[in-house]
Amino acid sequence: MIKGEQLYEGKAKKVFSTDDPELLIVDYKDDATAFNGLKKGTIQGKGVINNHMSNLLMQRLEKKGIPTHFVKELSERETLVKKVSIVPLEVIIRNISAGSFSKRYGVEEGIVFDAPTIEFSYKNDDLGDPLINEYHALALKLATKEEIETIKKYAFAVNEELKAIWKHVGVTLVDFKLEFGRLSDGTIVLADEISPDTCRLWDSETNEKLDKDRFRRDMGGVEEAYQEIMRRLTEA
Ligand code: C5P
Repeated sequence: MIKGEQLYEGKAKKVFSTDDPELLIVDYKDDATAFNGLKKGTIQGKGVINNHMSNLLMQRLEKKGIPTHFVKELSERETLVKKVSIVPLEVIIRNISAGSFSKRYGVEEGIVFDAPTIEFSYKNDDLGDPLINEYHALALKLATKEEIETIKKYAFAVNEELKAIWKHVGVTLVDFKLEFGRLSDGTIVLADEISPDTCRLWDSETNEKLDKDRFRRDMGGVEEAYQEIMRRLTEA
């Protein structure tokens, strides 16, 4: 596999072409941003952890029938993925109140919901990823009705699998963000990453935060939290 030109550089990853038009190489960085890029920093070793963790989780999800973009881990920081056109929706599932949910609705963090919630944001940095509903997504032609149904079905299925995986290693899955893409034939697959950057993960006993909130909220122990969550997943 030949690593071609850089196609894109995002906040946490770079994307390169390959000699196969259907495949791309993703290269994970240690750069961290929060609050739509207003806060910037580095989390040493994050790229290595997020690359491997996302790949392990996507492989577990594939086994459960959820299609993903994952093809092969190439190195500590590089992964071969299927080329997709990203559906410009951030899909957020919540099991417990936290973050923007707590802020928006004026409730404390840590309220366990009877059933998971789903919400969509329009992926648009200039607009600050505004919250939208399915009707808005259709009006904006971000996805078709069928695609939205598929995305919802996969997102809830991902939640059930991830909750079980994390529970097994003493971690509570509070909430997370997913992104989906379309393959060249239109098939919807899970894309982007699943990592402590994109999930809230709390120690099941102490509720200690083991995710990017430690960076967002200047709590310290960021690197240690990423290492700890990775250790739990791989030593399980
Ligand atoms: O900030 P908020 O509470 O809406 O975040 C919900 C979940 O989505 C968190 O796990 C957060 O890490 C993730 N998220 C993300 N990327 C964003 C917004 C939220 O990964 N742009």
